[in-house]
Amino acid sequence: MGGKFITLEGIDGSGKSTQLRMLTGELRQLKYDILTTMEPGGTPLGRRLREAFLETEETVAPIAELLLFAADRAQHVEFLIKPALKENRIVISDRYADATYAYQGAGRGFSKEMVNQVIEIATGGLKPDLTLFFDLPVGKALKRTSKNDESDRKNNRMDTEESDFYVRVRDAYLELAERDSNRFRIINADQPVEVVHSDVVKIVTDFLGD
Ligand code: TYD
Repeated sequence: MGGKFITLEGIDGSGKSTQLRMLTGELRQLKYDILTTMEPGGTPLGRRLREAFLETEETVAPIAELLLFAADRAQHVEFLIKPALKENRIVISDRYADATYAYQGAGRGFSKEMVNQVIEIATGGLKPDLTLFFDLPVGKALKRTSKNDESDRKNNRMDTEESDFYVRVRDAYLELAERDSNRFRIINADQPVEVVHSDVVKIVTDFLGD
């Protein structure tokens, strides 16, 4: 398949969504054909699923959560990501399958084998070409999300997890990055926004230039 598939990952409060906006602006100025998207909620069905299971106070069974993230992803891969890659576009997604390894695997405690199987079914094996992991200590990330809570940010169920949950999630991301060091780049997200932005632009333009 032509095109390039880039994903952004990080624990809540890592600043990746802000960085995605800034990166997209920069790449469009450089005349790259970019499609930005997100999980969950990159398609109309995905947005409805997101509301149904993430933006709710209803208790959601962990297995239902795992399968709903997978359903969102299956729809996303089939109707948005694959068609755009076929048209040789650059797709940049705010989260993808690594989030399921980290949050449902390490965070909720599902086995790697089970998470692997579910991801494989949902994606048909489609992997990103490049993944940026925005890393910062959990304590700092949580401070950022609690600041955001006082503004207009819409909360979701995952935002209310305790810090040891996020420690497991972060460690899982770091382990994934270590295991798949060709695909992953670890970004130091504990720096001023502009500094992180220039690190990100350098990594992505180097990658696209190759
Ligand atoms: P969102 O508001 O999009 O958060 P963020 O801007 O930090 O990405 O909410 C997505 C939440 O869903 C986030 O807490 C991570 C979680 N998530 C999973 O647990 N598993 C997954 O596979 C994905 C894609 C997201």
